[in-house]
Amino acid sequence: MTPATDIFAELNVALEDRSYPIVIGRRLLENSDFARLVPGKRVAIVTNTVVAPLYLATLTAMLEGAGKRCIAIVLPDGEEEKNVDNLMRIFDTLLQNKCDRKTTLLALGGGVIGDMTGFAAATYMRGVPFVQVPTTLLAQVDSSVGGKTAINHPLGKNMIGAFYQPQSVLADTATLMSLPLRELSAGLAEVIKHGAIIDAEFFRWQEDHMPELMARDDQALAYAIRRSCEIKADVVRQDEREGGLRAILNFGHTFGHAIEAGLGYGEWLHGEAVGCGMVMAADLSVRMGYLEPADRERIVALVRAAGLPIVAPDLGVHRWLELMEVDKKNEDGKIRFILLKPLGSATMTGVPSDLLEATLKACVVH
Ligand code: NAD
Ligand code: GLY
Repeated sequence: MTPATDIFAELNVALEDRSYPIVIGRRLLENSDFARLVPGKRVAIVTNTVVAPLYLATLTAMLEGAGKRCIAIVLPDGEEEKNVDNLMRIFDTLLQNKCDRKTTLLALGGGVIGDMTGFAAATYMRGVPFVQVPTTLLAQVDSSVGGKTAINHPLGKNMIGAFYQPQSVLADTATLMSLPLRELSAGLAEVIKHGAIIDAEFFRWQEDHMPELMARDDQALAYAIRRSCEIKADVVRQDEREGGLRAILNFGHTFGHAIEAGLGYGEWLHGEAVGCGMVMAADLSVRMGYLEPADRERIVALVRAAGLPIVAPDLGVHRWLELMEVDKKNEDGKIRFILLKPLGSATMTGVPSDLLEATLKACVVH
């Protein structure tokens, strides 16, 4: 019997012949109607040791019920596992199982599994079909959409990767009920980011609804996911390969990536680092004269209300700079930042070193 599935939104990422649907709903994974969004007869589901016991059997039954043959590749969990060894494990299993070019790679998990599976899909036999089934809030509002795929290098985050769009994204909000609270907060960082850089009204809506979001209210989460996907899809439609505009989606990430790499991957969650990074970028925006101090305080308050850190670890100015010098946005060795100018709008710029140092000193633990 087909279970009751609630569809909250069906969006389209408009990229000509690479366009694809995003379906946001509750209990999609149990409903074989959605197998039509997974191309091909053979599916390699890539997941991890945390997500597999929760959702692998349900998803496999749904796909096999629709006549597909599935294999599972279950990787270790964690940001520190987003590396070349695990990428090789995916390739090893695909080759051992004689998976051909028509095998679909399906990412079942958060952004780590999504980014790594996407990169495997982009490169296995020079490209095989790819589907995203994001199971964290962060992946549903951000990483599953837009086709950035990557693994980390010990010297820098997401340094090895490719742009490779999925053929569909199935975001099942029921999976968010098993997410640890800390991970829910991490996802909210990217939701806040979308409001801060593009949509001041959405930012205001979040100020009013953060308690419902933290309590996992269905309707509030569905709206936050939908609006985030709309914003991201629109930016990606205009600038798929980050020739310019797309860089604004990195608001908070220059500082955030430095925190992640500086403390060691996995110490702070990506979303936690981005949350704190947005506070730092807002501070720098004020110092540059782009943002009202009162709006910086609104950002601090919203990041805090989402359960995210607002004070950065003290890496030392020299180490901060060294870490931020390895960033894909940099040009000619100059660090470039995404700043708010004003709230609801973003710009990419270099900054005077005295202002950057003032932010680094003001925003770290004393
Ligand atoms: P994650 O993938 O590590 O998932 C977080 C944790 O939750 C993991 O322990 C995971 O196993 C667990 N988990 C996943 N789904 C669960 C569920 N439904 N119930 C219980 N536990 C569950 O982390 P993330 O925050 O989803 O993603 C972070 C990654 O995404 C980073 O590597 C970041 O660089 C990347 N990212 C990529 C993009 C992009 O555009 N490609 C954008 C933003 C972030
Ligand atoms: N998360 C940044 C991007 O997708 O461009």
